[in-house]
Amino acid sequence: MDPSEDARKTVLKASRSYYTHLGYYEERTRSAETTKRELDFLEFAFRTHATHEVRDVLDVACGSGRHVLGLAQRGYKCTGQDYTPEQVQMAKTRAKHEGVSIRLLQGDSTKLKFENEFDSVLALYILFLLPDDDGVLACLRQVHRTLKSGGIMVCNIANPFYDGENWFSLKSIQRGHYFNETIVPDMRYTSIDRVQDFDPLHGVAWWQEKHVIEIPDGVHVFHEQERLRLFTYWEMLHYLQVTGFKEIKCYPDWMIKPPKKPKAEWLVFVSRKD
Ligand SMILES: C[S@@+](CC[C@H](N)C(=O)[O-])C[C@H]1O[C@@H](n2cnc3c(N)ncnc32)[C@H](O)[C@@H]1O
Repeated sequence: MDPSEDARKTVLKASRSYYTHLGYYEERTRSAETTKRELDFLEFAFRTHATHEVRDVLDVACGSGRHVLGLAQRGYKCTGQDYTPEQVQMAKTRAKHEGVSIRLLQGDSTKLKFENEFDSVLALYILFLLPDDDGVLACLRQVHRTLKSGGIMVCNIANPFYDGENWFSLKSIQRGHYFNETIVPDMRYTSIDRVQDFDPLHGVAWWQEKHVIEIPDGVHVFHEQERLRLFTYWEMLHYLQVTGFKEIKCYPDWMIKPPKKPKAEWLVFVSRKD
């Protein structure tokens, strides 16, 4: 799948452009309840799955910092890194504004520089953006190295079998287009996404996207490309096993007590290093 170095660079360049232009607006459309729910889940995972108290947390693709910020406000010592410098800057600005102290770095989640340093590592909403299998394995291996023994990683993937519509569901990919409109105070965010290319053997889609942002100072239009890789539950489980993780648990949609047959949009994995 996209094996060459050129293809890898194309993926990273597209992702960086997307998050440089749209990270700020996407963050503004996200509800505070969504992040709170995820933070509550993370604390549940720390308490339930780590063998010792979680204090030091690393987020390998922290974006504009919502998880590291929230955890720092709840008393954890946090480090966040992200590939897109503009996202790191946003996280720094938010941390300063909210008066919390977080270490923030620019970096690639497939090239981590830490070793046995963290009680928990987060890889949230990132694995499906990594260029290829080598990238996913490199990221997971390095997260494993970065964790202290008994520490946990929390990561998530989009569920390709989710039967609703969103930009990462197989249903939307097969239909070939996806439209979304979000209205929040002082902003209407419309995205019109068209599948530019889909590789049904490897489950990789390129979306061609038009984002229209209407705010009081005018209308901003961005044309971006985004690449998405679909994973199944079993594939993810296998990756986690071969990269050395033990006690791997999967929770649908951040649900601590899932119903018997949950319909999951997101599969959240909690995995421990022995
Ligand atoms: C969907 S956002 C998720 C951000 C954050 N985890 C959250 O949940 O809000 C994906 C983030 O991954 C970053 N990213 C993409 N490729 C990356 C890579 N190879 N290494 C580190 N960060 C990367 C993007 O810049 C973007 O901020």
